[in-house]
Amino acid sequence: MVKICCIGAGYVGGPTMAVIAYKCPSVEVVVVDISKPRINAWNSEQLPIYEPGLEDVVKKCRGKNLFFSAEIEKHVAKADIIFVSVNTPTKTQGLGAGKAADLTYWETAARLIADVSKSAKIVVEKSTVPVKTAEAIEKILTHNSKGISFQILSNPEFLAGGTAINDLFNPDRVLIGGRETPDGMKAVKALKDIYAHWVPEERIICTNLWSAELSKLAANAFLAQRISSVNAMSALCEATGADVSEVSNAVGKDTRIGPKFLNSSVGFGGSCFQKDILNLVYICECNGLPQVANYWKQVIKVNDYQKTRFVNRVVSSMFNTIANKKIAILGFSFKKDTGDTRETPAIDVCRGLLRDEAQLSIYDPQVPERQIRDDLSMRKLDWEHPGHASSVSFSAPEQISVVTDAYQATEGAHAICILTEWDEFRFLDFQRIYDSMPNPAYIFDGRNIVDVEKLRKIGFIVYSIGKPLDPWLVDMPAVV
Ligand code: UDX
Ligand code: ADP
Repeated sequence: MVKICCIGAGYVGGPTMAVIAYKCPSVEVVVVDISKPRINAWNSEQLPIYEPGLEDVVKKCRGKNLFFSAEIEKHVAKADIIFVSVNTPTKTQGLGAGKAADLTYWETAARLIADVSKSAKIVVEKSTVPVKTAEAIEKILTHNSKGISFQILSNPEFLAGGTAINDLFNPDRVLIGGRETPDGMKAVKALKDIYAHWVPEERIICTNLWSAELSKLAANAFLAQRISSVNAMSALCEATGADVSEVSNAVGKDTRIGPKFLNSSVGFGGSCFQKDILNLVYICECNGLPQVANYWKQVIKVNDYQKTRFVNRVVSSMFNTIANKKIAILGFSFKKDTGDTRETPAIDVCRGLLRDEAQLSIYDPQVPERQIRDDLSMRKLDWEHPGHASSVSFSAPEQISVVTDAYQATEGAHAICILTEWDEFRFLDFQRIYDSMPNPAYIFDGRNIVDVEKLRKIGFIVYSIGKPLDPWLVDMPAVV
């Protein structure tokens, strides 16, 4: 029986290993983590992450060929294949602060593998890491190997939050990068055999290590760039009276462009896009390519601009003053069907509104109150000026209330901001909501999910990103 151990039971490690166990009954999979509460949660009825379909897969395999354990050394020592799926946040200080990936967790994991291994291992890089990390890890492992053979593979993850299980069941492609030596190719084949249990052979792409690592950064940069492109268009649409959905539709019909990932929004979030682009920027700068670095930086700048633009629109529409006005925030996660709040645009939008002294009433179907409060009170890294810790650390908890349904959030509110496209927000009883709000009642839809005409008929003043502006929307000149 092939034994797999995955270090890191997070958003990537947990679902990926659950699907491998489900699809490969002949493989034993153990997921380990330094966080005991996380492991306990994986072994309980309440899994630590929300992902549609995940619970079902876990319940079918847990205790059979899928195990979650805090005994890291024991399971690493026994494994044939070790996936490393630990966090790689952006460095907050020192060389490369604000851009480079912090590889502390990765290095700790690599040292542990070197320490406890007594037999040959295939070590698979699963977290997003900058190009050439595999080489560094290989050095750590071989210098401490006591004669044991380690083969390093890069097997980047392409799953997206909210659709992870489907993405794993039906991947567009699986990418495996390895050394082009006989042992390297043997290791690539061993991993390919695992995926071949359910992924058609033509979708398993084998490349060299560096191509695999860079492909992950490139794919995320391209995806994020599409969103920034359509978001840049949304500003122009508002200025000219065009409708960004019509523009996206027309542009996406070109088969060379395609229709996906062209939804204008309040901005992209998630743990990958910004982090991976910053990594890319850093790698370009380190390789003497400032023009290429600046090109990719713009994708993040437009994303930041989109969030600021949204806040400015709210404030200027409400006569330049939102102080002490109740504003309902519907949705806090970075997209629907996930409780993940990493880099969610809601953080920046809420901070912007709080800075103008609004009273926020926040509702999200999956994000717990503690998480929302932590996210809003944490100091935020300014990626452009990492030396100056962000000025927007926020500490006025009395300005925030977190509630458990949308009607409670909106009752008595002057305005509603929709920041996540949760399906339930499409089907709210907006007449009931309107009746509970003072006039004028505003809706700022940061995800373009509401029926604008219907809401205007009810009496709302509606702002939708990139759509022709509501004639009732007053655009006060910003006070200098
Ligand atoms: C992304 C990649 O899609 C995935 O392949 C990679 O493995 C991890 O990073 P994820 O961040 O989980 O996945 O979600 P994704 O669906 O890519 O959405 C990212 C952000 O872009 C979300 O905030 C989403 O709301 C936003 N988005 C997406 C838009 O604003 N408009 C779109 O058209 C699509
Ligand atoms: P991702 O989205 O990449 O999966 P997460 O933060 O959700 O990132 O998960 C990473 C997991 O890795 C966390 O649960 C963390 O506790 C775990 N982790 C980090 N370093 C180590 C380590 N050295 N050994 C075991 N687990 C680790």
